[in-house]
Amino acid sequence: MKTYDSQIPVEEKMVKQSIQIFARVKPTKKTASVYCVDNEEPAGSILEFLVPKDLADGFINNKKETYKFRFQEVFDQTVKQEDIFEAIAKPVADSVLSGYNGTIFAYGQTGSGKTFTITGGAERYSDRGIIPRTLSYLYQHFSQDSSMVYTTHISYLEIYNEVGYDLLDPRHEASRLEDLPKVTIMEDPDQNIHLRNLSLHQSANEEEALNLLFLGDTNRMIAETPMNQASTRSHCIFTMHVCGREPGSVTVRRSKLHLVDLAGSERVGKTGVCGQLLTEAKYINLSLHYLEQVIIALSEKNRLHIPYRNSMMTSVLRDSLGGNCMTTMIATVSVDKRNVDESISTCRFAQRVALIRNEALLNEEMDPALLIVRLKREIQSLKEELSMVTGEKREDQLTQEEIHKMEELVKVFLDDPDCEVTLALGPDMRKIQYCFSLLKVLAIHSLSLSHNFYLLSISHHPLLFSFDMFVLPHYIFFSPPPPPPHNHYHHALIPKGGKNKYKA
Ligand SMILES: Nc1ncnc2c1ncn2[C@@H]1O[C@H](COP(=O)(O)OP(=O)(O)OP(=O)(O)O)[C@@H](O)[C@H]1O
Ligand SMILES: [Mg+2]
Repeated sequence: MKTYDSQIPVEEKMVKQSIQIFARVKPTKKTASVYCVDNEEPAGSILEFLVPKDLADGFINNKKETYKFRFQEVFDQTVKQEDIFEAIAKPVADSVLSGYNGTIFAYGQTGSGKTFTITGGAERYSDRGIIPRTLSYLYQHFSQDSSMVYTTHISYLEIYNEVGYDLLDPRHEASRLEDLPKVTIMEDPDQNIHLRNLSLHQSANEEEALNLLFLGDTNRMIAETPMNQASTRSHCIFTMHVCGREPGSVTVRRSKLHLVDLAGSERVGKTGVCGQLLTEAKYINLSLHYLEQVIIALSEKNRLHIPYRNSMMTSVLRDSLGGNCMTTMIATVSVDKRNVDESISTCRFAQRVALIRNEALLNEEMDPALLIVRLKREIQSLKEELSMVTGEKREDQLTQEEIHKMEELVKVFLDDPDCEVTLALGPDMRKIQYCFSLLKVLAIHSLSLSHNFYLLSISHHPLLFSFDMFVLPHYIFFSPPPPPPHNHYHHALIPKGGKNKYKA
């Protein structure tokens, strides 16, 4: 087994990385060998299909007999779940812990082992798949890393027949699927996707997270089909939101980990399904077709439009496909003779996926609430320092008395014909700002009066509690302003071209 270093250099703000592709071969009892794996290649591993002539005639084409595909690594039939976790999921989990988004998705035909790989098998504890092992790994890390404080939230989305459902909705058991609230996509002006009706559950420890996983799994749409006794008929996205911060720091790192079990493609002509199974298969095939269109568009140079909006799955996974995410794909393949053509399609799809380059950003941000608390504390200590220096205690707001005094000072300043006269306010920014605002309002006002009647939008302006003005073309009055309380405003009518009592 190959080992991989952690994917990211420490503290890199942006990591450009192609989507990593791995292949996993499902165990088979059939002995006839139609494939071989070469893990000795220096740049990845090769999965090769050897298509017998008779099969090639019928299914693929009658010229070629071997098909070779390169992967990061190919996991053959005997590889254990633990090894899959170590090689594929652990590096992604480490990236998530460092503050990058991560996605792992399994893709392959129905019955090829996607659910077994992502969630696990039901029979043995050792068959636990990527999700429970990743949860275990992450919570173990949280409890051991005393330099950081972590919080985690979990959501579990199911997309069945192109409609989104919340697998963690407690009404799932008692209600019919069509009666449950649908999860819908909303896009904000920055094109960020938000999911309405998808609940987010805080989970403090591994046990709580596993309970959520179990609850979601029991709510999934599963059916017996000709290809799989327990075929999962929907796409499922298990998402873990991780928030980490150093104690006392205002910087937080938020990352998302999507673990995705796609529904499997199915050649309905071959399997002969009908009724509900056929409807499901059509929806599954259509949404996988839309996924393929996105992958093709992304892998082509200079394509401006990427058709993410065609399906719910591609909309939800937009970041994972060509965006801010470190993404890994596991191609699950069956090497039974009758499935070889579909396995080859899966591998072809994977080769396209490998061409996509993502740009994962370090999701680091200031927590606004914490920042405000810190700044308030800083202001308070600066105020205390200032009052120690000046010997007087200073409030945030000017008092009525101070405001009145400022207005008198400004009036004297403006009335003085001497151009050199100064306005002495002392080292007090509140007073300086107040006088500047006052002068600005007066300047705007005098400008508007010299041009035309003008409605000054000065409501709520604290400076104008006594000079609020409202000029109407037909009713031009002047009324001396009564002294209202601070911050109260009213309208006084003043004459066009009338003298502004503050104007020099
Ligand atoms: N690597 C494996 N080792 C042992 N059993 C496996 C392995 N992969 C798959 N299986 C078994 O094969 C069967 C089909 O696998 P699984 O349900 O995971 O397929 P799937 O790709 O999810 O199919 P679908 O698209 O229909 O949901 C299951 O019984 C599963 O336990
Ligand atoms: Mg499945």
